[in-house]
This record gives sequence, C-alpha cells and structure tokens, in this order.
Amino acid sequence: MSATLETAPVARPQIRRNQLLINGEWCDSVRGETFATYHPATEEKITDVAQANAEDVDRAVKAARRAFEEGEWHDMDARDRGALLLKLADLIEQNIVELAALETLDNGKPIIDALNADLPLVIDCLRYYAGWADKIKGDTIPVRGNYFCYTRREPVGVVGQIIPWNFPALMVAWKWGPALAAGCTIVMKPAEQTPLSCLRMAELAMEAGFPPGVINVVCGFGETGAAIVAHSDVDKVAFTGSTEVGQIIMRDAAQTLKRVTLELGGKSPNVVFADCDIEAAVQGAEFGLFFNQGQCCCAGSRVFVEESIHSDFVERLVDRAKNRQLGDPFSPATAQGPQVDKDQFEKIMGYIERGKSSGADCRTGGGRWGDKGFFVEPTVFDNVTDDMDIATDEIFGPVMSVLPFREFDEVIERSNKTFYGLAAAVWTRDIAKAHSLAAKVKAGTVWVNCYDVFDAAAPFGGFKMSGIGRELGEAALANYTELKTVTMSLD
Ligand code: NAI
Ligand code: MG
Repeated sequence: MSATLETAPVARPQIRRNQLLINGEWCDSVRGETFATYHPATEEKITDVAQANAEDVDRAVKAARRAFEEGEWHDMDARDRGALLLKLADLIEQNIVELAALETLDNGKPIIDALNADLPLVIDCLRYYAGWADKIKGDTIPVRGNYFCYTRREPVGVVGQIIPWNFPALMVAWKWGPALAAGCTIVMKPAEQTPLSCLRMAELAMEAGFPPGVINVVCGFGETGAAIVAHSDVDKVAFTGSTEVGQIIMRDAAQTLKRVTLELGGKSPNVVFADCDIEAAVQGAEFGLFFNQGQCCCAGSRVFVEESIHSDFVERLVDRAKNRQLGDPFSPATAQGPQVDKDQFEKIMGYIERGKSSGADCRTGGGRWGDKGFFVEPTVFDNVTDDMDIATDEIFGPVMSVLPFREFDEVIERSNKTFYGLAAAVWTRDIAKAHSLAAKVKAGTVWVNCYDVFDAAAPFGGFKMSGIGRELGEAALANYTELKTVTMSLD
C-alpha cells in the first residue's frame, strides 16, 4: 500500500486549503482572523489559516447538529456510510505523496516516515472502520416476565474532536474513523501548528461525498478547542494532547456532562533484560524513543537495562544515536527532522540542561543541531535515577534516559512509579518473564520484543493519568455510541 520512495527529495506541496470547513463550505472566520503556520525545518511561514472563534464554532456545531438530526446522513444506511469511508481512504491513497509532503511541511517529520508510516496507517484505519459501519449492533436480553428486551447502539450525536500536532493526519483518521462508522457528525479542531493535512483530508471527504455538515473543521488555538468543550450542543469530546489540557477539558465538560475520552501523555518504561537479543533491543530502544523526533505519547523514554549488560547496551545505543541522520525532512535520507516549534524546542533544551545539572551522564547529543530550524541532537543520558526530572516528566523530544536495574520485582516497581500508564515494553527470551511483566505493568499497551507496533484493530489508550477510554479497534466504537435498552410487553 505504501508508495515507494524516490531517491530525489519530494517536492513541497501546493497549499490548496487554509479556510474553515463549515456545512460543506470553505469560509473565513466571522471576524476574519487568521494565524500563521510554519515549516519547522526553516522557520519560514507556510501560509495563514483562518482562526475560528466561539461564533465560528457555534456555526460548525449547528451544521453538525442539522446533519445529525435530518437529511441524507441521518437517513443513510450503515453500509453506505462504510462505502463513503472506503472512498475517502481511496482518495487519500491516490494523493498519498501530496498528503505526506503536507505533513512534512507542516510538522517537520521526515518524508520517509510520513510516506511509509503515517499515511499508510491513515488509510488502513479508515478502511478498518469502514468495515465496522454495518456491524455495530445490540443484544437481545433475557429478562423476567413476558417481555422482549433488546439493546441498540446509537450514535452519540455531535462530537468535538481536538487533536495534537505530532501525527496530524493519523490523529484525524483515529478520530474520524470510529465516529463516522457509528453515524456521528464532527466538529474537529486540528492543532494550531499543523492544520494543513486535516484541511486537505476534509477536502477529500467532500469529494468522497460526505454530506455537508457531517465533517466540519475549525482551526485555531486552545480557545477554539475550549469553545467546542463549552458548547452545550456538543454531545461528546474526544481529545488527544497534554495531560494538563486533558484535565481542563474533563473539568469544563462537567458543566454539560459531555462524554469525554482522553488520550494523554506518558513516560513509558522500556525494560531490557540480560537474556534478550541485545541488538534487537538496542534497535527497539532507538526506534521507541527517537521515532518522530521523540514526539510520541508512547515514547519509550525510560529505558531500564539489567546491570549485567548495561555498559555493552549503552555503547551500542550511543553508537546508533550518533549515526542518526538529521537534516532536511524532505530528503529521503533524513531520519530525524526538527521539533515541531520553538516552544517544544525550548522545553526540550530546558530538560537537557536539567538532566546535565542533576548529575546524569550525557553520553551523546545534548545540544541544538544546526543554526536554523528546531533541531535537537539525539541525546542519551545514562545512569539516570528515578527522581530526576528527566526520569519523571514527559519531555516529548529526542532525549533518552537509561536507568540500570538488578531485579525483576525492582524493575516492575520502578516502572510503575509514575502518574502515567500509556505503554511499556519488555525485551527478553524468557516467555514467563515477558508475560509476567505484561501482567504487572500498569499500562494500556505492552510490547514484547518490539516497540510502536500499531494496528487499527488493536485498542490503544492509557491507565492512570495517561487518559480515559481506548482508541482504535472495536473498543473505540464505544466512545461514539450510546446504549439504548428497549423493553416491549408481549402480553
Ligand atoms: P496541548 O495539549 O496544549 O495541545 C493539544 C491540542 O489541544 C491542540 O489542538 C490545542 O490547540 C488544544 N488545546 C490547548 N488548550 C486547550 C483548551 N484549554 N481547551 C481545548 N483545547 C485546547 O499540547 P501542546 O501545548 O501542543 O504540547 C504540550 C505538551 O503536551 C508536549 O510537550 C507533550 O508533552 C504533550 N503532548 C502530548 C501529546 C500526545 O500525543 N499525548 C500530543 C501533543 C502534546
Ligand atoms: Mg498547550
């Protein structure tokens, strides 16, 4: 499915859409406000994008409500909703190079990743949920007395979806797929750093034939997101982003008792036992942390290494980190691009300084790369202790902490010593040890002898402060449906 990468750099894409999509029409915001989006590798402005305020959000919610309650979408057979999702997936596939290039331009991620990871996962996710559209069903329930009782799974209604900038197109697919399969209508807010691929996907959705108002896109900052959360006619909010904003959203949603699902941060343990395939584990640790410039909620940012292989492991890891190729993300040779923006860059550099001053050994990296763009050197800290900021906080950058350990029970306890609980991994040849860790670690996803293996069918989400609810798989359909019980007298 993935396009083969040419050896020449991929051309910068043309920007086709920079307005809001409300009720099937592209429009400016009511006040005519805009904001700029930048290419993080060069810090150049790409374009201005319409910025929605509460009034624009209200227009979008009204359009979504109308589309939900009446008209073509409301009356559509589930199988036809699935067909529309398939059509959208096909159109994305036909435009995969353009969409991947938009992703690289707006986010800064290497074109090889956008083309070979993000976009194929987008297409797969939409096709997976297309298949669910006509398979969402209730049960017949045996009850006392002469009654016929059954349940229906109905769409929850108008859903607000607020997404981050680390996987801009993929987050659109994770949110749209289950919501549209269930029959909901959408008001989406992409991240202010990366609205462009979402707008292009919305344009393709219109081309696929989704009726006006089913998918609305309002661009803007946190205030635009807050206006969605505050709106009394939005039935549900799905959010991916920082734990801090997740807390605000949960609190604000209480006002109208909206359904809320949250996919938040992490500080995931990646546990390497001495009996593992060491080269595979080194590669897994590198990929698990440095992929996407370290900007992954499930990044394996605490690498626990058993003491007996610790120095060998770190040598190999440092070697690999040093060999990562940084540069123009449009070049197919580039493995690591810039961080998404100045705020993220500065946050990461701040953590690197704190890591150095707290006494951890900075074995490689530790500085800015180049003099233009938000590039950070791949950085490995060794001999990190559990209490250091670099071991407790989500850095969201290419900064790895290596923590030596001795015992199985000790590493379980230390792995779980965090507010987060999104993901974990274990590297070992001992099956019992792997299953035992998988059972004892408090995390929504556990990878054994692999990392960052995602599939549209496999649920993903967090324990503890990493979130509420699950995305992907059959589990995500529960986020977008209400359960209704119908009881009928048979007398
Ligand atoms: P953020 O949580 O502020 O932004 C995510 C989305 O929420 C964006 O669309 C933003 O406009 C929106 N938003 C911000 N404030 C809002 C509010 N009060 N109400 C409704 N929507 C709001 O994350 P930010 O500032 O981009 O990054 C800060 C840190 O968050 C990162 O350094 C990283 O640690 C973490 N993060 C985690 C992500 C994940 O995948 N779990 C993704 C992005 C960031
Ligand atoms: Mg923020």
